[in-house]
Amino acid sequence: MKAVRLMLAEETKGLSILRRGELYALMAVEHAELDELLDKAAGKGGAIDTEAYQRFRERLLRHIRIEERILLPMAERKHGLALAIAPRLRLDHGALAALLMLPPVNRAFRTIRAVLDAHNPLEEIESGVYEQCESLAGSEIDELLRQITTTPRVPASSWVDSTTVFDAAQRVLARAGYNPALLVPNDGDL
Ligand SMILES: [Fe+2]
Ligand SMILES: [Fe+2]
Repeated sequence: MKAVRLMLAEETKGLSILRRGELYALMAVEHAELDELLDKAAGKGGAIDTEAYQRFRERLLRHIRIEERILLPMAERKHGLALAIAPRLRLDHGALAALLMLPPVNRAFRTIRAVLDAHNPLEEIESGVYEQCESLAGSEIDELLRQITTTPRVPASSWVDSTTVFDAAQRVLARAGYNPALLVPNDGDL
């Protein structure tokens, strides 16, 4: 996280005032709601909830689409070059998309949680991605918010319970810098 803070500090030098307003609030609330849905899906305090998992998958895919297709391109256009943190975000988004293909089992839930716990702070932190995007949007903020709120639902195809899909997810995880052993079953896993 120290290296990320340094990178963000370097990158935000040119931005006179970093804004934390409506864009920040909207996206941070999505993180909180996704966290709740994931807990519900994983059966925190109860049984695994496959319906909640399906809603989580669709909402996370839509959230990632907003970041990849609206926020990062806008930031690149206004900044004149891609945000330094963009490749890191894209690796995490790719890992999450691969993990969302997994069936609702404990090892999938704990791995998705680990990636989100590392990823979301990069966006929510002071001088992080959301503050940078909000500042770069400037007078285009209302249009940006409109694009975000009108982004349609992203349908998620069915999850796949096969070793091929787990193996693929492990490779993508490793490429993104996470420990692929997170996906190895523990004693007592469902
Ligand atoms: Fe993200
Ligand atoms: Fe996010």
